[in-house]
Amino acid sequence: MKLSLDLFHSHSRTVLPVAAHAKVLGAKAAQTLLLAEGAVDPGVDRVWLRAGLRTLFRRDRRFGACKTLCCVGKGGAGKSTTTSQLAVIAAKKGMHVLILDCDRQRSVSGWKRIRGSDPGITVKQCAYNHLELECQTGRKAGFDLILIDHPQQPGEAWPALVRATDLFVLLARPSVFDLSTAQAWIRQLDAGRAPFLTAITAAQPRRSMIDAPTVRDAREILQTRTPHVWRGQISTRQSIVLATAQGKGVIEYEPVGAASAEYLVLWHRLWDRLVTNGAPQ
Ligand SMILES: Nc1ncnc2c1ncn2[C@@H]1O[C@H](COP(=O)(O)OP(=O)(O)OP(=O)(O)O)[C@@H](O)[C@H]1O
Ligand SMILES: [Mg+2]
Repeated sequence: MKLSLDLFHSHSRTVLPVAAHAKVLGAKAAQTLLLAEGAVDPGVDRVWLRAGLRTLFRRDRRFGACKTLCCVGKGGAGKSTTTSQLAVIAAKKGMHVLILDCDRQRSVSGWKRIRGSDPGITVKQCAYNHLELECQTGRKAGFDLILIDHPQQPGEAWPALVRATDLFVLLARPSVFDLSTAQAWIRQLDAGRAPFLTAITAAQPRRSMIDAPTVRDAREILQTRTPHVWRGQISTRQSIVLATAQGKGVIEYEPVGAASAEYLVLWHRLWDRLVTNGAPQ
């Protein structure tokens, strides 16, 4: 597919002045943030979508200093998938990304084996108790972004992980079991004063920009527990499963598509939080 070849080509590693660059979005504010946080209707005009995605993609590059993001949530909520998707977006922007694979199933390590050689993404398997040390080593080694694929439960070294992490991404599917675990995570994160953003994953896609009832209810429940709930969602999409099976990110597999739009907007939101050192804007 021709569109897929030139949309997200590699960028130079030029460091842009963050403060100045952060304000520049353009292309009708990336098509009004891809119609409010990445909800793209199946019938949306592809030229319109392509222009919005390209602008959004080019908005930010590096952080100036290494940042650490850690994906947490219930088993199966999408931690490993989100970690690999965010890694690809960051690497496509020219960042050097280190993934610390702390998941006993070693899902991201398996994904990277399929992906093969990629100078932008390094995956290292890591014991929970070594996470803080590995983050320090990663920073010294010059990585721009460290992504941690957290196991299902926090370990003994949780306080050290909080110290080492700039922002947590709490993932929750819109189901009763996930929401109950997400509330426990919110308590855990709040107790440790850990900055976080909650994102709903494996969600039923929106229709005409309207949340599915299950997603709307889940969002309302989460919002009663924390103000840090992302307005967008990561929908259940076959393209994500297929991209992952090929060791790819969905922005490589189907760059002009709804899944790319959702992950890019999520990245954009996380980036906003990371450049303000975790504080909401
Ligand atoms: N947005 C999505 N659309 C479709 N399938 C998805 C999506 N996100 C995740 N999946 C699938 O859901 C399953 C669980 O995802 P993943 O392994 O990323 O979760 P996890 O939180 O890392 O799980 P674990 O706690 O077991 O480590 C995988 O089969 C993955 O391919
Ligand atoms: Mg996992």
